[in-house]
Amino acid sequence: MLARVHSGALVGIDAYPVEVEIDVYPGMPSITVVGLPDSAVKESTARVKSAIINSGYPFPARRITINLAPAGLKKEGAGFDLPIALGTLAALDLLPAEKLEDYLVVGEVSLDGAVKWVRGALSLAISARQQGFKGLILPEMNAREAAVVEGIDVFGVSSLLTATGFIMGRVPLQPRRLSSEEQPPDAGAYPIDFKEVRGQEYAKRAVEVAAAGGHNVLMIGPPGSGKTMISQRIPTILPEPVFEESIETTRIYSAAGLLGRNGAVMTVRPFRSPHHTVSDAGLIGGGIIPRPGEVSLAHNGVLFLDEFPEFKKNVLEVLRQPMEDGVVTISRSQMSVTFPARFMLVAAMNPCPCGYRGDPKHECKCGALAVQRYWSKISGPLLDRIDIHVEVPAVNWKDVTGKTEGEPSAPVQERVNRARRIQLERFRNAGIYSNAQMGARHLKRFCPLGQESLAVLEKAMDVLGLSARAYHRVLKIARTIADLEGSENVLTPHVTEAVQYRSLDRRYM
Ligand SMILES: Nc1ncnc2c1ncn2[C@@H]1O[C@H](COP(=O)(O)OP(=O)(O)OP(=O)(O)O)[C@@H](O)[C@H]1O
Ligand SMILES: [Mg+2]
Ligand SMILES: [Zn+2]
Repeated sequence: MLARVHSGALVGIDAYPVEVEIDVYPGMPSITVVGLPDSAVKESTARVKSAIINSGYPFPARRITINLAPAGLKKEGAGFDLPIALGTLAALDLLPAEKLEDYLVVGEVSLDGAVKWVRGALSLAISARQQGFKGLILPEMNAREAAVVEGIDVFGVSSLLTATGFIMGRVPLQPRRLSSEEQPPDAGAYPIDFKEVRGQEYAKRAVEVAAAGGHNVLMIGPPGSGKTMISQRIPTILPEPVFEESIETTRIYSAAGLLGRNGAVMTVRPFRSPHHTVSDAGLIGGGIIPRPGEVSLAHNGVLFLDEFPEFKKNVLEVLRQPMEDGVVTISRSQMSVTFPARFMLVAAMNPCPCGYRGDPKHECKCGALAVQRYWSKISGPLLDRIDIHVEVPAVNWKDVTGKTEGEPSAPVQERVNRARRIQLERFRNAGIYSNAQMGARHLKRFCPLGQESLAVLEKAMDVLGLSARAYHRVLKIARTIADLEGSENVLTPHVTEAVQYRSLDRRYM
């Protein structure tokens, strides 16, 4: 007899429908899986057989053929175990096949019949709802993650027997709902705060502007000046993510298998700080079946590259595509997968190999050539995508040991939130979210300058020798500064402050 179970496969972070067909007929006992399965899927047959027997069902000696359709889609992982097990039981007439029609089923089973956690449950739930299924049957460990999707009933099962009992109507299961205390926790749950950073008002202001407009930022300063410390606190002032952003970020973590058991929707923006020894695959994603890399794990959040020039040149090169497009595409012979990768780049570095170039208290011992070589590691095109450069000088000892704390993160985040809301409203029909994403067209429309501010900007361009590209950068930053102030127009003080954040254009390039 033939049975069919609806399931799904993950490609990138999207789930696609997969039909699992099982045919049981007389003949030499054998189990065959067809339809482009990977080795984990092929091993599924052994797991499923044990799970069925250990759950107390008979397993007759027949020929079994399992077909995963569509055949063109590469299927991976153990998530087809549960659909295969249920389908086999239905094909053996031990389960009512028509009852399976209403559900999308996914789950790994172990030999004893326990149902184990899978990757990508959130995306599978979204796909199940889009296809109009009544319910989703999945591992209990994944139920909380999937339950955030409205309009579909999510049933978590911990064993094959619970699943069969539910389908036969013998085990009453309630659809998983999120209770109010399970709702996303307060986003302000960071153990660190900007108030711990003393002094460095200029750098803190620059970082606030960067967070408000989503601008990439590069911090340059001597050892111990607080660059790492400031960068690590940037997530505490980022604008609160809107629900869609949270879902998007969670889908990436779920697909990467990083959401973990009983995972919930991520309500804080991610902060990723890969070590400078990271490979290009680690950074942009890779693997035979591509998994998201650091740039995607930083989606909607911060990618922090500390000791920027220490990263291998080819690794930094691969950052260009995601920084330009907000996505990263990984091509394989069998498939090409696109992951979201819209992040705010925060980079930190010393001004020279010894670290003390320009420092009043230490002598820099680096020769001009060494300094040049040091800077040449960071390619021009990459630097070109960094809107804000900020010099972080050595801290005054008194500032660090004094009693006065800096401004806490909360009020800063308030201002950033306000500025971001203005941008969301402004760009509602423009297909972008923040000032940093503005193209030439947007700049013309949203950043007109008055006579006075235009004159100031042109003068600065002249005196500082800024390029045409730098001109656009300054305009974007000025727009963000105006938004932080709640000013509809970009005015002269906004332009003058913005010009200061282009220090590299004059000094090192
Ligand atoms: N502005 C500051 N306020 C309070 N503490 C500070 C400040 N700057 C530095 N410190 C202290 O100095 C330590 C070193 O700072 P941090 O690691 O951020 O320096 P850095 O600029 O990243 O240096 P490096 O170039 O060596 O990486 C911090 O952990 C902190 O204890
Ligand atoms: Mg550091
Ligand atoms: Zn030096």
